[in-house]
Amino acid sequence: MLNQVLQAIESRRQKSVEDLKEFLKIPSVSAQPDHAPDMQRAADWLATKLKAAKLDAQIMPTGGHPIVLAKNEHRPGRPTILFYGHYDVQPPEPHDKWTSPAFEPTIRKTDAGTDAIYARGAVDDKGQVWTHVEAVTQWQQHGGLPVNLTMLIEGEEEVGSENLERFVSEHKAELKADIALISDTGQFARGVPAITYGLRGLVYCEVFLTGPSHDLHSGMYGGAVPNPANVLCELLAPLHDKEGRVTVPGFYDDVVPLTAAERADWAKLPFDELAYMQALKVPSLNGEAGYTALERAWGRPTCDINGITSGYQGHGAKTIIPSTASAKVSMRLVPNQDPQKIVAAFEQSLRDRCPKNVKIEFARHGASPADLVSREGKAMQLAKEAVQAGFGKPPTLIREGGSIPVVGLIKRELGIDTLLVGFGLPDDRVHSPNEKFDLDALYSGTRTAAVLYEKLKGL
Ligand code: BES
Ligand code: MN
Ligand code: MN
Repeated sequence: MLNQVLQAIESRRQKSVEDLKEFLKIPSVSAQPDHAPDMQRAADWLATKLKAAKLDAQIMPTGGHPIVLAKNEHRPGRPTILFYGHYDVQPPEPHDKWTSPAFEPTIRKTDAGTDAIYARGAVDDKGQVWTHVEAVTQWQQHGGLPVNLTMLIEGEEEVGSENLERFVSEHKAELKADIALISDTGQFARGVPAITYGLRGLVYCEVFLTGPSHDLHSGMYGGAVPNPANVLCELLAPLHDKEGRVTVPGFYDDVVPLTAAERADWAKLPFDELAYMQALKVPSLNGEAGYTALERAWGRPTCDINGITSGYQGHGAKTIIPSTASAKVSMRLVPNQDPQKIVAAFEQSLRDRCPKNVKIEFARHGASPADLVSREGKAMQLAKEAVQAGFGKPPTLIREGGSIPVVGLIKRELGIDTLLVGFGLPDDRVHSPNEKFDLDALYSGTRTAAVLYEKLKGL
């Protein structure tokens, strides 16, 4: 049966891309309230495809955007797989930086000379979700899936999965599975497929400063009243020391150091630091002293300003002392760091250093710990075999710097590990204009998904 499934996948290549284009045309931007009807449309589109594949698919309302839940007929004695993906996408802005419009999927050559489909969500995560929908559909048309499958595809991943925790804890019995499966990560490089065994955690904080009651003429008042923009800079600048270490007190207390074995493994990966710098047009790299770029991005915690706002932002000059200033700051966490402890320490360190004549307030936008999954065990072995079959090469085991909070949620609530079998590439421009998914990755990914469902019946 697997051979027939794989043949059907090969012969449907073009149609599969056309279907994915339909999905990508729906601007399912979870962060923007105007797009609520598009969220529903994307969920409907998915549910229709899954029903066409003879899955029992339902759209489950949440307090926010709906969840698509689909199951094949579960038979006793077979392993159960919980597939997770997300149909929501990041905001497309700035539109003028897109070569073709964000929601008009277009196929063209990449800088590397490969063919790719360009659109917001192409790789994160609609295109990767699509590899599974396509594989599942072909299995269902050729004798049925060999495993029990539950698919949970949510619409709030890019805004912190706010309603998912409640959904999972209220549907534990329905979601019960032997292993979870996610395709929302990447390959190490073109021609180097990967399975990810670690992700960083994330805390996202916002700080608001208030000075005078209104913007002031900077000539009349400057020098005499507190300037919240100046103060914000004073608070944020010392967050790193000269060694590139984060200065928040206690920040490193619980950090598990990278082992010599892990560092040796990573040092052997085909990482080209010069190509990395050139692709990003940076003349040199930076970060914590004593660590390589991969170690800094995968295995060390960070603190980064994501947005900073104060005063006049328009053309030319406007001479004012701004009344307010604010910044959005994310901290990527590594195993054993407690997100709540880190947020509290961050807020305390700013509060302690803030002058008394400026008001300081905070908001918190999500906190999730880092995840490590076992590199041993049957499921991992079967996943490696599936990648080998789908890509024609064995996967490299990697960690990545991004965060997928549901991995921890699944572990806590359902007690199971997750296989992170992702098909993206480092040059996909995730969250950025000109996001894309290489067509080769789409096809190899679809094959891998098809083989995975066959292999995992041996769990
Ligand atoms: N798919 C990404 C996570 C990711 C990116 C994993 C690159 C591995 C490599 C996911 O959609 C994402 O963007 N997650 C957010 C966290 C979320 C809470 C907004 C992130 O990492 O910023
Ligand atoms: Mn994603
Ligand atoms: Mn994302």
